[in-house]
Formats: sequence, structure tokens, C-alpha cells
Amino acid sequence: MGQRMKPFIILFLNLLLCQSILAPPPPVDYGDSELSLKDVEQLLELYDYEDGLTIDEPQVEIGTLSPIRHKAAIPEPEHTNIFSAEHELPPQKPLPRLPLPPDALGPQTQRGLPTCLLCTCLITTVYCDDLKLEYVPPLPKNTTHFYGRYNKIKRINKNDFANLNKLKKIDVTASQIAEVDEDAFRELPHLEELVIRENQLRQLPELPSTMTLIDASDNKLGRTAIKNEAFKDMDNLQYLYLADNKLDHIPVPLPHSLRALHLQNNNIQEMHEDTFCNSKDMSYIRKGLEDIRLDGNPINLSKTPNAYMCLLRLPTGRLI
Ligand SMILES: *[C@@H]1O[C@H](CO)[C@@H](O)[C@H](O)[C@H]1NC(C)=O
Ligand SMILES: *[C@@H]1O[C@H](CO)[C@@H](O)[C@H](O)[C@H]1NC(C)=O
Repeated sequence: MGQRMKPFIILFLNLLLCQSILAPPPPVDYGDSELSLKDVEQLLELYDYEDGLTIDEPQVEIGTLSPIRHKAAIPEPEHTNIFSAEHELPPQKPLPRLPLPPDALGPQTQRGLPTCLLCTCLITTVYCDDLKLEYVPPLPKNTTHFYGRYNKIKRINKNDFANLNKLKKIDVTASQIAEVDEDAFRELPHLEELVIRENQLRQLPELPSTMTLIDASDNKLGRTAIKNEAFKDMDNLQYLYLADNKLDHIPVPLPHSLRALHLQNNNIQEMHEDTFCNSKDMSYIRKGLEDIRLDGNPINLSKTPNAYMCLLRLPTGRLI
């Protein structure tokens, strides 16, 4: 009985898959409607070994996958990476080649591979480290964290991160980036962390006000690299790392939320009395900011003794 049913089931599953491909894709995640090879295997095994199981009506509704799973009492499959699913297939039991739902492995890259085969996708984090990439690969819509460290990206374009409305963190450390389109990050509604250290940047791109951490250390940021008042509206900014650049001033105003400001090894020569404090409001105390690095700059911190009145800890740097 089980053997006789098998071709029928395969045909039936193919039908289902075709239907799910023709149907418009669900808005965000394919998690529930995805039918992996593993599911098919499980289903076939069930018919092979459980002889008591019968299907009364051959014309089972071809609507959704859930009623069948229900009937056959197959537990919802855990979300498995397609890599492991492939590796777990027993070699002696060939299975029909079934089409996967579109985009199951992310969008196609220029190398003819979907992003999640070229890179590694774990839940909503995409790791593309050290792949000699010359571009940011097209990322799945659900990406929250993107790691593209140690590549040869050179330029970040306006569309590279467009519409990735869940993106929280971008880390493109040491990827030879010299240019970033002005609009590349500005519209990302949930971006919190940008790590773009050890690149060749001459201009800091505009960033959304949701930022908590910006690390653009070890770049080529000079006199005009940072827009006026660039950090003013970032009410959650806590870590601003701009060490090892060619900055000649401290970017003001600094948000009250700031906890660490690293500006060591730049070209800063002077500081205003109100850089950290407020000379008009002597009661203002900047409690959070306890880690200011100004060492390695041609500045004599002793010249502006009033600039540190509101701080709990003096900046690190030359005081004599
Ligand atoms: C995110 O999208 C990718 C590619 O479309 C998919 O393989 C993955 O299962 C999705 N992750 C979640 C948690 O939905
Ligand atoms: C630094 O400034 C203080 C106070 O103005 C001054 O006494 C000191 O000589 C300066 N040091 C150097 C190396 O210029």
C-alpha cells in the first residue's frame, strides 16, 4: 500500500509546490509555508512505515499545507538551515528534485548564487565575511544584522541597503570602502549600529537618528568629513568612535546620551568651552560620558579648564 501511494504523493506534493510558487509571495517570511526536502522525506517515510494510515478521499483540498500536516500528524518542522537539510539526506534514497519556494535562499547575487549560499544566513543575520566581495550582496528583506568584514567592497551604493526596514546593524570593517552614497543609510528606520572602521572613507555618510553606536575609526576623515551638527538629533547615541582619522575639531553638539567618545590620534588643536558643558547652565552635569580619548592630538587640554566642569572624569590627553 505504502509503495503504491508513493508516486501519487510525489505528484501531489509537486502540485502543491507549483501552486505555492504561482501564488503571490507572502509579505515577509516564508517560515510557515516553506516545504523543504526534509518535510517531503518525512512524509514519504510516514507512508512507507505506517501501514494503518489511509487517505479516504484522494482529492484532498489543495489549499494550504497545514491540513495535510495535520492529517498525517507530522510535527511542524523546526526552522532548519538549507545547508544542513541537504547534508542530512541519506545518499542511497534519491528524492525527486522539487522546486524550492522563491527566495528561500535569499535574492540572487552577481555570482549566480543566492545570497544565503554565497554567505551564511542564520535566522536574520547574514555573514559575508572574508569572501573578497566587491559589492554588497542583495540581502533578504528580513535581515537584521549584516556582517561584510574583510572584503573589497570599495563603494556602498544608494540601493545596497534600500528597503531593509529591519536592519539594525551593519559591520563592514576593513573592506576597502572609499565611498558611501549620501543616501545609503539615511532612510533605514531601525539602524542602530554602523561599524565601518579600517576603511578609506573621506566623508561620513548621513545616518538616521536611531543610531546607538558609530565606529568610523581608522579612516581618512578630515576637516570637512562630518556634516555640521551630524550627531545632534541622535538621542540614543552612546558610542562614537572616530579615532585614527584626520579630524581637526570635535564634532558638536554631542548628544547627552553619549558614554564614549574616542578621538585619539587625530589633528584636533583646540576645544570650545561648551564642547561638553554648558557655560550658561552651571548645574548641567554630563553623567554618562566617562570615556573621552583625546590623546594623540596636538591639543593642550590645560588651556580650557572650564570645558570639563560638568564631567565626572577628565578626558585622556595632554594636560601640560
Ligand atoms: C529570512 O529570509 C531568508 C531568505 O529569504 C530565509 O531563508 C529565512 O528563512 C528567513 N528567516 C526568517 C527567520 O524568516
Ligand atoms: C598648556 O597650557 C597651559 C595653560 O595655558 C600652559 O601653562 C602650558 O605651558 C601649555 N603647555 C604647552 C606645552 O604649550
